[in-house]
Amino acid sequence: MADHDDIASEIDALRAEIREHNRRYFELDEPTVSDAEFDELVRRLRALEEEHPDLITPDSPTQRVGGAVSATFAAVVHRVPMMSLDNAFDLKELNAWGARVERGLGRVSAAFVAELKIDGLAMSLRYEGGRLAHAATRGDGRVGEDVTANVATISVVPKRLPKGAPAVVEVRGEVYMPIAAFEALNARQAAAGEKLFANPRNSAAGSLRQKDPKITASRELAMWCYQPGEVVGGPAFTNHLETLEWLESLGFPVNPEIRRLDGLDEVYTFCQGWQERRHSLSYEIDGVVVKVDALSQRDELGATSKAPRWAIAYKFPPEERTTLLKDIMVSIGRTGRATPFAMLEPVFVGGSTVSLATLHNDDQVRVKDVRPGDTVIVRKAGDVIPEVVGPVLALRPEASAPWTFPTICNCPLHTPLVRLEGEADTRCVEPACPYQRDARIIHFASRGAMDIEGLGERTVYLLSDRNLVRDAGDIYALRREHFADIDGWGDVSSGNLLNAIEGSKTRLLPNLLVALGIKHLGPAAALAFANAFGSLDAIMNASREELGAVEGIGPIIAASVHHWFSEAANRAIVEKLRAAGVIFDRVERTSVAQTLLGKAIVVTGGLEGFSREEAEAAIKARGGKSPGSVSKKTYAVVVGADPGAAKFAKATELGVPVLDEAGFVALLESGALPG
Ligand code: IVH
Repeated sequence: MADHDDIASEIDALRAEIREHNRRYFELDEPTVSDAEFDELVRRLRALEEEHPDLITPDSPTQRVGGAVSATFAAVVHRVPMMSLDNAFDLKELNAWGARVERGLGRVSAAFVAELKIDGLAMSLRYEGGRLAHAATRGDGRVGEDVTANVATISVVPKRLPKGAPAVVEVRGEVYMPIAAFEALNARQAAAGEKLFANPRNSAAGSLRQKDPKITASRELAMWCYQPGEVVGGPAFTNHLETLEWLESLGFPVNPEIRRLDGLDEVYTFCQGWQERRHSLSYEIDGVVVKVDALSQRDELGATSKAPRWAIAYKFPPEERTTLLKDIMVSIGRTGRATPFAMLEPVFVGGSTVSLATLHNDDQVRVKDVRPGDTVIVRKAGDVIPEVVGPVLALRPEASAPWTFPTICNCPLHTPLVRLEGEADTRCVEPACPYQRDARIIHFASRGAMDIEGLGERTVYLLSDRNLVRDAGDIYALRREHFADIDGWGDVSSGNLLNAIEGSKTRLLPNLLVALGIKHLGPAAALAFANAFGSLDAIMNASREELGAVEGIGPIIAASVHHWFSEAANRAIVEKLRAAGVIFDRVERTSVAQTLLGKAIVVTGGLEGFSREEAEAAIKARGGKSPGSVSKKTYAVVVGADPGAAKFAKATELGVPVLDEAGFVALLESGALPG
């Protein structure tokens, strides 16, 4: 067991580290660790202090609220201190808080109010004589910074209160940047070659710290108010919800998702529900704040030096973490596209361990300016693919240089990588490139194509290195003896793979078409060709005009398919497949008309006649797609009950048609938009 001195020095080290992180977060707006990592340090410190109460000091970060005050803005003293919140990270901790509340109230149960925990900055607005007198940041909880001129530019913040408002009204809430505003800001920053902001919270903080309020005004900040501070001459209230209604009546923005709930079971369901739906909002949240509703019970419970005992922040699992970017590599796709990707020190984020993340293209690496050796912020939100947000500049090693796109591929042929004028992509233009060849074989065997279990990247590389497969046709010539001298490939594993290969010979024609990897030919178009022609031979021998005459097929796909089959090397592969016994004409004709071929329809909110799965299946059965988010390419957005605000807002912003359920039914039938 560690002795007392060791513990004391660990506590000292943790305190120093936490103070430094607080300084970076609150004063410099330049955190070097994610919120989750910071929370872990605080938890460790708190646990040690609980075990060794004699080591607690009044200046420990566990006893104080985060930030200090910078020299740039004037100081404002909060007459009622702005406190922080204690955190709960799971049901057990939430229940432990509930038990403390009940004990504190002498075994009386409490009713709760649950609110979204907005990921922004705490703000105090002070009105004197009905006019906005001061807006101040939280600072260290006692003294904050005067940011009145900047906050006055936020459109939802009232500049004057209605007649009859009390002489002094102080209101607290969270200033935040909506996601759409954040994305637009970063797009502007990128276009101007300026530094990108890591997330909406950081950009809100940066925007409030501007010396020129005009810049703040251009940043489209918003605010949700959640509590009165000092009020002189106001009405008396008995519970929290009443105070919120009053704030709303004075013109303050109060979040619509606030609920009064009976018991922590309901609270927990609310927390889990929002954890799942957090991305349906147009702003970021990082948890739920649970508060005791009755004000008399709040008084009874009181506060520690740092946080009230009557509230707790239920924090969601982190979607952002920092990790080391070990290297930037380039992968060559089956069409020759060279995609840079980050090799990361594995990090658990957003529900899975991430060790690779795409960096998309040359420009993205340049704009983000991420370099091997950097500590980077990695984000994995919902089912979105992992992303490198940007570097933590404060932790950049001294000897560091910007990464440049390699001009030569590191494949055995050392082919040049070229970026053509006006294009975003860098490519390998060598048709014999072994990396492209391998990527085509991997694609052929993949799930939406021939679905050959066990023939993934590693096996393809292994077989390709031994010259056993050079194109997809060679897969079917593999025999047991080819594996005899390969380490780790016994009779069982090679037998399994050969069975899976044999089984793939009877895949449906649309899968076979997709497997060939023809440019622009996706699953919806493959299905249309299969239904129209019935066999690979008929498609192969069709003219460009005949291909283009298929319902839902445009001239680009028709030309691409026609071109692919005109190349001798491709025909040779087709003949290898035929000789191996791959079936060319297995078609399950669908009776459903392909009214939505290639169209993307986003569904948000609940429909009466369809579950979410049924709505998606109906779209897909008609050849359409049903992505999770709205973009320029979205054909229509179907809106049911309780729709996601972000999707609705995005559809309106981009001018994407919005349909109700009746419009959706008509769309399924005809493929046309009503009106
Ligand atoms: S109540 C004394 N309600 O979370 C209680 N805080 O981690 C004061 N926050 O400092 C806070 N949404 O900046 C409250 N609905 C909400 C909130 C909220 C976000 C922030 C606030 C607070 C921090 C604590």
